[in-house]
Parts: sequence; structure tokens; C-alpha cells
Amino acid sequence: MSVNHIREPLLEVGWYRDNSSQSVYADWDFLIMINISTKIIIKRKEEIAMMKEELEKIREEAIEKISSSDALEKLNEIRVFYLGKKGKLKDVMKGMKDVAPEERPKVGELVNKTQKAIEEKLEETKKNLEKIALEKKLESEVIDVTLPAKKSKIGHRHPNTIALEEVERIFVGMGYEVVDGPEIEYDYYNFEALNIPDNHPAKDEQDTFYITDKILLRTQTSSVQVHEMEKGKLPIRMISPGRVFRSDEVDATHSPSFHQIEGLVIDKNVTFADLKGTLAQFARELFGEDTKVKFRPHHFPFTEPSAEVDVTCFKCHGKGCRMCKGSGWIEILGCGMVHPHVLEMSGIDPNEYKGFAFGVGLERIALLKYEIDDMRLLYENDIRFLKQF
Ligand code: DAH
Repeated sequence: MSVNHIREPLLEVGWYRDNSSQSVYADWDFLIMINISTKIIIKRKEEIAMMKEELEKIREEAIEKISSSDALEKLNEIRVFYLGKKGKLKDVMKGMKDVAPEERPKVGELVNKTQKAIEEKLEETKKNLEKIALEKKLESEVIDVTLPAKKSKIGHRHPNTIALEEVERIFVGMGYEVVDGPEIEYDYYNFEALNIPDNHPAKDEQDTFYITDKILLRTQTSSVQVHEMEKGKLPIRMISPGRVFRSDEVDATHSPSFHQIEGLVIDKNVTFADLKGTLAQFARELFGEDTKVKFRPHHFPFTEPSAEVDVTCFKCHGKGCRMCKGSGWIEILGCGMVHPHVLEMSGIDPNEYKGFAFGVGLERIALLKYEIDDMRLLYENDIRFLKQF
């Protein structure tokens, strides 16, 4: 084969020139080449057409499947099947390597269009299905706004607590400090330091629960007076609310465990007039402005002089009714000037300092304030009773 012949222009080497066998051979070879490349081109064109067809088929099929989906989960399955990592579009993409480089952008564009069309349809259908689901949900959850709302049950303070907070508010307003003391107490603080030595008859009246000979459950909050005085920080102006214990039978006015609020003021030049003024103010704030107080002489071992305080009945204003048993007066507390011996025992010089003290029964205040006639109601935790306050 001569190289020269191959170089000749195509028109001149056509197969119609058979005068030179040599040149025919040369042209034949060239034509084979042309033929092959034409075939390749044709083949490629066919492949691209097939890919287009395939993509079109995928698109149509996917869109039909999406349109007939009635659940969001199905849409997801379709997405994976067509657009997923091992999905149908990826399969088509694999065929890209057989596509001529100059044709690839076109095919790529076609793949992208197909993908976009499927995605758009998926999104549109998803929104539609979500809308339908929401409408269904709203329909099934129709709220009847005329129905009464469910009330959440809120607890509230116990009548004892309400009364205590009221008493604390009044005394804190007068500059008193609220202090705490132990419920398990030495005999010394509960009795001896309050002028109640062993064998004193007052010990009989306040029998209690003994843990040892010397340790007991306190019978009165007066014991906190001693603790406060022993601290040696003067002047003192305190109240001390807390639980006390006595070996009493339960009835309408007694309980083995109840509450008292102790009050103590120690300062120079404190007089009985201060005590009267303080308690009169307390009674007015607690029971009403027109409340009057009456001091009846009494005896407490740790105060001298001592008194019991009555207030005018807040129900009948002193005229006499069932509440005050016809007398017009109601007893509310015990009080007095702190006994000099009590001051001395706790290290306070009675010539320099004087003091007054008082003790209020908390339950008594609560019963009076809310006109409850049985103390047991305060401890039974009956919701029907408690929710009235
Ligand atoms: N602790 C006394 C009691 O339980 C009440 C009392 C009376 C307390 C007079 C006092 C007081 O501080 O001065 O009966």
C-alpha cells in the first residue's frame, strides 16, 4: 500500500475509478475506515437516543408513581428508587462513559432535567399530602370552645399557715425577728430556766413525752426565750413559732401536738405599758380596728406580773354570742413581765434590763379567725374542709 494514494483527495479516489487496481486497494482501505467511523457515529447517535428515551421513560414512570401515592412514606421510597445512590438515574449516569465527550453535556443536562422534574413532582405531592393530613387532623381535633376547661388543682396554704403568716406579718412590721428553736429539748430550757424547778406543780400541768430524764419534747415555745437570752445579744425583739407537745387526749380543743408562737422583748426601760400597747396593736391588726383588749391577772412561773389577754368578740363585737359563750370576750394569749430570776439565770442583769413575753396558741387563732369549732379538723387533712380557706 502506497502512502501517496491515501493522501489523494477523496473525490479522486472514488470506487468508480477502477483503471488502477493499485489505487482501488488504496481507496478501499480508506473507505473501511470511513465506514467504521460512520458506524460508530451512528451507533453513538442511537445510544444517545436510547438514553433519552430511557430518561423519558424514567421520568414518566416516576411521575405516575408519585401522582398515585397516597402516603408520605411512599414518596420517600420513590425518591430512593429513582434518585437514591443506587437509584435508576445513577444507573443511566453510569452509561455516560460510553457517550462521546462532546455529547456528554447534552446528556448531562437531560439527566439533570429528569432529576429536577422528579424532585419537583415529589415536593409538590409531599406538600399536597401534608396539607391533606393537616386538614384531616384539624377535622378530627375540632375543639368545642364552649366546653368548660379542665381545671388544674392548685393546692393552697393550710389555715394554720395562713394564721401564722398573718401573725408573723404583724410582728415583723413592728420590728421583730422570727427565730426557730428545737422541738426536742433539755428539761432545763423547757422548765428549769423558766422558773419551773423539779417538783413544781406546773410540771404536772405540762406533762410530756420524755426521751430521757433530762430530754423531752418541748411543751411550750417559751424554751426559745432562754436560748435567745443565753446568746447575750441585747436588746431582743423576737417571735418564735413552732410545734409543741403534751400528753393530752385528743378532743375538740386538745391535741398531743399543736403550735405556739412565743414573743420576747428585752431592753432597757421596758414596761408593762409597752406590753399592753404591743398586744393591743396586735389584736387590732388580727381581729379588726374596733377590737379591745382586757388584761386579766394570772400566774405564769416565768413572768411577774402575769396576765391573760382577752379580746372583744369579733363576731358580736362584745354583745355576747355563741362564739364567746355569751361573755363578749375571747381569751387569746398569756403574757407578763419576764421574771427577774429568769433574766438572771440566763445571764442578764435585771437591774439594767427588763422584758416582756407572751405566748399565743396558733390553732386558737386559726379556729377563732375562721370560726372553726373543732381543732381536729385542722389535722385530718380532709380536702373538703381545707379547700374552704
Ligand atoms: N408558755 C405558756 C403556755 O404554754 C404561754 C405563755 C404565757 C408564754 C406567758 C409566755 C408568757 O411567754 O409570758 O401556757
